[in-house]
Amino acid sequence: VGSPEEADRPGVDVDLHHHGDREVGAGLVDLAVNVRLPEPPAWLRRELADSLTGLASYPDPSAATEAVAARHRRSAGEVLVTAGAAEAFTLLARALAPRHAAVVHPQFTEPEAALRAAGHEVHRVVLRGDFRLDPAAVPREADVVFVGNPTNPTSVLHPAAALRALLRPGRVVVVDEAFLDAVPGEPETLAPQALPGLVVIRSLTKTWGIAGLRAGYLLAEPALVNRLKAVQPPWSVSTLAARAVVACCGREALAEAEQLAAAAEGDRAFLVDGLRKLGIQVAGTPRAPFVLVHVPGGDHLRLRLRETGFAVRRGDTFPGLGPGWLRIAVRDKVTIGAFLHALERLLV
Ligand SMILES: Cc1ncc(COP(=O)(O)O)c(C=O)c1O
Repeated sequence: VGSPEEADRPGVDVDLHHHGDREVGAGLVDLAVNVRLPEPPAWLRRELADSLTGLASYPDPSAATEAVAARHRRSAGEVLVTAGAAEAFTLLARALAPRHAAVVHPQFTEPEAALRAAGHEVHRVVLRGDFRLDPAAVPREADVVFVGNPTNPTSVLHPAAALRALLRPGRVVVVDEAFLDAVPGEPETLAPQALPGLVVIRSLTKTWGIAGLRAGYLLAEPALVNRLKAVQPPWSVSTLAARAVVACCGREALAEAEQLAAAAEGDRAFLVDGLRKLGIQVAGTPRAPFVLVHVPGGDHLRLRLRETGFAVRRGDTFPGLGPGWLRIAVRDKVTIGAFLHALERLLV
């Protein structure tokens, strides 16, 4: 998949801070942003509302830390609760002193942005074809490696064994599992595995519709957690975010996340099937609640879709992708059906 003229361009040539929310607007159906719920569920809003009376006190992340540890069968010393996954990228970039930082692309751009902002040079490892991870593609000298699983925007889920194959003495491997709770059964997760040099990052903002709250966490060996904690701004995880972490690690929330993930699989199959029937090439084997497609003239098609009321995310701000690539969020079948209908009319 992909043509040579769309090869990645070296250096910082794209806006690494471009995100799907810049592509939505009044009157547009949002297939560009990957947050899955239009608003947090009622039970979570109640939890948050209950926490408001405690806001006079400074936040205390201990209950959230314990809840994450229990959820992933890790010890509390292996957990750092963060203001979203994004804060974890910044803490890693600040605390580590890589001589050779490698970022496996195409992937979410904030890890590379955080590394660059901290003054580190970034070496891009660009996957092509079906976008599956080839551990041998990562240079031996890389002492920090960032990889997403499942990866945004390719939707590819890498095998845990391929990720483990990246581990070696003196290297930190950061696996961004921000979307893994959207894959039923969380296959290929490394979250419960205490392995030297492994950092697993999770986000709560996608599944629970709380991108505005900033809630996430990372799992790593205690010595590394302590190094990251040392550069974390005081009280960066608010009382409300910490409460959300506790609530979202509870048994009922996990069961609900599993149901949402299973429903999204059905919706994604409907979307992929419809796209293929229209002759559109879907990248890899999608496992996340979004799909990446390649369409000749995709940039033009994206603009025409906007005119018909649908915002999809441009792919060309992801290193390794060009203007023919588009990322489409999985929504309910009624929305997808309307989208496919609009697309069909544009393609004839
Ligand atoms: C792969 C990936 N990781 C992390 C994030 C950031 O998550 P958070 O909102 O928890 O900072 C995003 C947001 O789009 C993402 O796509």
